[in-house]
Amino acid sequence: MLVFAHRGASSHAPENTLLAMEKALEQQADGIEMDVQQIGNELVIFHDRILSRNSNGTGLVKEHNLKALQALDLGEGQSIPTLWQVLNLVNGQCLLNLEIKDVTDVSLVICNIERAVSELAFNYTDFFISSFDHHFLAKFKALAPHIRIAALTASKPLKYAEFAEQLGAYSVNVDMCCLDENFVQDAKQRGLKIMVYTVDEAKELLKLKEWQVDGVFSNSPANALLVLRG
Ligand code: G3P
Ligand code: MG
Repeated sequence: MLVFAHRGASSHAPENTLLAMEKALEQQADGIEMDVQQIGNELVIFHDRILSRNSNGTGLVKEHNLKALQALDLGEGQSIPTLWQVLNLVNGQCLLNLEIKDVTDVSLVICNIERAVSELAFNYTDFFISSFDHHFLAKFKALAPHIRIAALTASKPLKYAEFAEQLGAYSVNVDMCCLDENFVQDAKQRGLKIMVYTVDEAKELLKLKEWQVDGVFSNSPANALLVLRG
């Protein structure tokens, strides 16, 4: 079962920062999940639509330009990174799950990945593009069928993972709150991988291992790896 650092190793550093990515690499996470938003022609890594929860800024992310966003303090000397900064830091050392939060220009994501594959130590198979926005995923899949997509859900649909199969997704990524064994079995029968967020509790991690879930997103990858692999 793959262990992804959720928003980087977010139990050990401010979420979605370069420090959180460094900690995830130190902890030997199999992969890192991060949240992607578009500001002008740039992609930045930040979870919320508003700035106040985890920065010294206020208002909507969208109301600020890149320079103003990069000047904000996220704690521990960290600021909002661009996707390209993260790609340079990680440089092919682990898998990357880019969760698309608010991106209008699909080609910006594709260009970053193409550049990472040609200029850095990444392969296309190192990337997973996930989103709750299934329309985005459909557009992405049409333009870049060689890059894996993961359909996110925080619900338990009547036909379980059917929507992910319809999208041609590599995996269905499900909120732990909505998961049961039927969902896992359904995904497997459709030939999909199934990954689950956000899981930090040992009991839950072990249950997912028993159900043969393919991956988990954890705020503390070191802890999850210890529980799962000893
Ligand atoms: O990608 C899994 C998970 O990160 C989705 O929810 O709100 O933590 O971005 P959220
Ligand atoms: Mg996320």
